[in-house]
Order: sequence, then C-alpha cells, then structure tokens
Amino acid sequence: MNGKTITQFIIEQQRQVSGASGAFTGLVNDVVLACKIISNTVSKGALVGVLGSAGSENVQGETQKKLDVISNDIMIQSNEWAGRLAAMASEEMDDVYSIPAQYPRGKYLLLFDPLDGSSNIDVNVSVGTIFSILRCPAGVTNPLVRDFLQPGATQVCAGYALYGPSTMLVLTLGRGVNGFTLDRDIGEFILTHPDIQIPVDTEEFAINASNERFWEQPVQRYVEECLAGKDGPRAKNFNMRWIASMVAEVHRILMRGGVFLYPKDTKDPSKAGKLRLMYEANPMSFIVEQAGGTSSTGRERIMDMLPNALHQRVPVILGSRNEVERIIGYHMGS
Ligand code: AHG
Ligand code: MN
Ligand code: MN
Repeated sequence: MNGKTITQFIIEQQRQVSGASGAFTGLVNDVVLACKIISNTVSKGALVGVLGSAGSENVQGETQKKLDVISNDIMIQSNEWAGRLAAMASEEMDDVYSIPAQYPRGKYLLLFDPLDGSSNIDVNVSVGTIFSILRCPAGVTNPLVRDFLQPGATQVCAGYALYGPSTMLVLTLGRGVNGFTLDRDIGEFILTHPDIQIPVDTEEFAINASNERFWEQPVQRYVEECLAGKDGPRAKNFNMRWIASMVAEVHRILMRGGVFLYPKDTKDPSKAGKLRLMYEANPMSFIVEQAGGTSSTGRERIMDMLPNALHQRVPVILGSRNEVERIIGYHMGS
C-alpha cells in the first residue's frame, strides 16, 4: 500500500491519548463510512434518479433536495447503531435525533450538515458533508437541545468530505489538519495532504456580491478596497471566487489561502447571517484555526460564542490570518 489509511491515522492519533477506549475511533470510522456512501450516491446523480427537489422544506424554510434527505438518512443509519453516540443533530432535522431504544447510547454528540451547497447539486458542482463531534455533558443520558449548545471551542473533532473531481476528507482532532483522498478502487481514504497550513496572506476573496447593498460598512469598505486593486489603498490586485458551496470554498482556502465572507447583512433582519453556527461555522472554524487561519463574525471569535439555538445563524469571516484580522479591525473601527 502506498499511503496511510484514515483508519490507521485515527488509531495512531488515539494511541497518544491516555485512556482512549476506542469509542471515538469507531465513531470517526462510522462518519467516514457515511461520507463514502454519500460520495457514491452523489456521483451516480441522474443515473439513479437522486437529483431534484424532495418537495419538502427544512426547519429553516429552505427547500430540501432529494439528496439532502438521502444524505441525512445515510448519516443517521451509519451512526445510530454502534453505541458511540448519545444523540445527533442536523441542519435537515427540526429537533435533536435521539438514539432509538434498541441501540446502546454512548458519550458523544454528532452534528452535521449532510449535504452542503445543495443548490449546486442539479448543476453538478462540488458539494460536501460537514460534521462536528462534541462530548455529551456528564450524567446526561437523554440529551436535549441545551446539551448541544456548547461553544465551538469544546469540539473534539470536526471535518468535512468534499465531493469534487476527487472525493476528499479533511479532518481535525485538535492537533492540526490532515487531508485524505478517496481511492475508489480500494474504497479507502488515503492520507494525501498531511498537516495543512493556510498561508497567512492572500490576494483572493470569496463573497456573494449580489448582497452588496445589504452589507455593513466594514465589509463594503473591505471589498471596495480589494476591487480597487493596484490603484487602491491595498496597492495590489485581488482575485475573486464564489462557488456557493462552503465546503469547496473552505477547501480552496486550505489549499492556497484566501478569505471567505458570509457576513451579517440587512437582507432579512431576523437572521444574523446565513450560515449555521452548529453545522457550518463551528466545524469550519475549528478546521481553519487548526490550519493556522482565523475565523470570526467580524466582532468575536466564532468558537467562543455561546450558542442560543440549535439552528442559530451567524456571520462568518474566515481564512488567511492577516486578511481576516484586517476585516476584524475594520469592524472594530481601527
Ligand atoms: P446548504 O446547501 O447546506 O444550505 O448551504 C449553502 C450555504 C453555503 O454552503 C454557501 O456558502 C452559501 O450557502 C451560499 O449562499 P448563497 O446562495 O446566498 O450564495
Ligand atoms: Mn450548508
Ligand atoms: Mn445542507
């Protein structure tokens, strides 16, 4: 074999943790299996009739795609039986998912966005799965929403699978970030991108510019300065990308630097931002920080936020450290 499998990698990492029982290793393996099954289903697309709308809405009023629902079911089925989880929560489910009575319960909580970027499915652009693992509070056997509302800084593990030209899985256990590529011939994720580091400087930004008129002044200023290029205050040209799949966007930033913004805007005053704290912002912030980047709402570190609801939305600004710190500075008025 040419490279290290993700299973070998996780087992070796867990050997360094005294008292590790193997439950966590098993849990990550189950999540990895779910991502392989989702990857396989996504890649078959129209051949197996999985494209298009499911004809339903999720708790956030968004139309669900068939693959949103299928991916959610795959995550549940792969993870509910093994006795590692106390409960799950998903972007696509209104409430906490309790582990069915016939299965044993474990000490971890799993949160996920089963298919991120699902507006891209029908046009065959990259999508992904994002996940976050928390510890179930001590003494809790039947977790409720409040047991999930832990700051991102308490995450034990976070990762995403990217279903692109190749399927990749990027993982942090809190000791750096490692990337694995799915070898479809043997069905294993192989370590191909060890110890990923985000360059601290960048000339690339990502934002949905159609929302410009709704942005706050600090973000308007930042983007205006980027667009002014060599002739503006930054005295250098910037490039722009917007895939509309956060997974693909964050992956590009991990690979070559950049800054991603889905900032606070006034489009819908009832929403603080578009992206979800528990399923998107926290896991991606953990990965980005572990790779040497920065992640903030513009006013506070995302991973320090005390969540107030399972489906809470937050502004997200993340990526290359010097650029994100500049944007935070604009928000703080310096
Ligand atoms: P999801 O498909 O899970 O609802 O998430 C889509 C998110 C995120 O992936 C992406 O960055 C953003 O929504 C795109 O939003 P716009 O369509 O407003 O550009
Ligand atoms: Mn998403
Ligand atoms: Mn989603």
